[in-house]
Amino acid sequence: MNKEAKNLDNPRKQPYAGYYLRNDRANSEVDVELTHCGPDTPLGEYMRRFWQPVCMSEELTDVPKAVRILNEDLVVFRDRSGRVGVLDRHCSHRGTSLEYGIIQQQGIRCCYHGWQFDVDGTILEMPCEPAESRMKEGIFHGAYPAFERSGLVFAYMGPPEDKPDFDEFDSFSMPADGRLVPFTNVYACNWLQVFENLIDHFHAAALHNNMTVDSLDAEIRDGVSLGQGFRTMPVIQWEATRNGHGMMFSAGRRVSDEKVWVRITELNFPNLVQTASVVPAAAELRHTTVGMTRWHVPVDDKNMIIFGWRHFNDEIDPTHHGDESKCGLDKVDFLIGQTSHRTYLEGQRAPGDYEAIVSIGEIAAHKLEHPGRSDVGVYMCRNLLRKVIRGETPVDTSRDAALERGDTLPFYSADSVLTLPKVDGADDDALLKDTCDKVVGIMKECDALPSAERKAHARKRLDDIDGGNFVAD
Ligand code: FES
Ligand SMILES: [Fe+2]
Repeated sequence: MNKEAKNLDNPRKQPYAGYYLRNDRANSEVDVELTHCGPDTPLGEYMRRFWQPVCMSEELTDVPKAVRILNEDLVVFRDRSGRVGVLDRHCSHRGTSLEYGIIQQQGIRCCYHGWQFDVDGTILEMPCEPAESRMKEGIFHGAYPAFERSGLVFAYMGPPEDKPDFDEFDSFSMPADGRLVPFTNVYACNWLQVFENLIDHFHAAALHNNMTVDSLDAEIRDGVSLGQGFRTMPVIQWEATRNGHGMMFSAGRRVSDEKVWVRITELNFPNLVQTASVVPAAAELRHTTVGMTRWHVPVDDKNMIIFGWRHFNDEIDPTHHGDESKCGLDKVDFLIGQTSHRTYLEGQRAPGDYEAIVSIGEIAAHKLEHPGRSDVGVYMCRNLLRKVIRGETPVDTSRDAALERGDTLPFYSADSVLTLPKVDGADDDALLKDTCDKVVGIMKECDALPSAERKAHARKRLDDIDGGNFVAD
């Protein structure tokens, strides 16, 4: 008997167990409920109840744009009167792709026999049919409602009778002189592993202060690092928000003997994430709001696109570290490693989110994971998502109340740097947790206020923490 064999009862749990583990990945099943997005799948039907970005405005030119979204092949165009159409890609007549269609004053015309479709799928002309034919009155081409907003094209792909309002958050118009700059990042993997990466904040302390980058030259190191503040392992707490329709984490870090930094990141189901500042210098900032809004849109089960806005304003980025010119089609200005555009070797030397997430595989095999305490947020995210997909989550009352008032929706993501001197002999982690709880509580107090009053309220209450006058609401 070879002396390397140590655990004959369970040969999978011994050194050099590769032989016994080798087929696990190939044999593992994926979590269909959370990852498959096509028509009639649980996730796909749930996602279709929300407005989803489908392309960037700049992609709509004099020719149509072919896209695949939620496993449906579509064509997007802006007709010559300025209206956006999102149509089934294949012509209702005999199937020619409308990506070869001719954009009209009203709608689009199929190149093959000239059928003309309006943006709502009404057939306007069938030039090869007899003039007296009423055939076009009995057919509708598949079409989805769409609109453009700040450089993104949104479509609603659910039942027309259930069409919701677009979720308009405070952050989309705050501050008033802020600019929303659109961008995309294209990922060759399932949507969920990109979405849940944002609630997995521990990775920022490893990947984005990569334990290997000390050996790299300064330019690359700065490009893949989020800054010194993120290098500290945070104290993190996760919780559900919006009655289970979202979740957030608060991460507390001590930045000096006097100051602590609380970062909150929130995601909203099905696929929206807003983060606080994504540029360095957050450590000096008193309180910042949203730096980035992203929708994580499945293309099909093995591909996805991040559609987002980077927020540019002097409040979130007073030192102007961000660069609008670097945001656009499959590019964004923060952290290299967000796209597939680098070489394999560059990715190996300084891996970023793209390399870490796509290399998991086309669809992550959850059953092969070994989750620890640091993964609580990721697993909470999956559990909450499963519940909303199944319709087991109660109605989001805060959303409905805000919309009823004609208000925009509150958000929780923020960076707050607060004075909190270290106390000799005290448990600093407990102090950090307590401070995180207070900041989260303050952000939640804002839910009940009109949107115009929320920011001032949050700042005043944060000042109270700083000045030691804080009283829990
Ligand atoms: S296939 Fe489009 S008009 Fe005939
Ligand atoms: Fe990351």
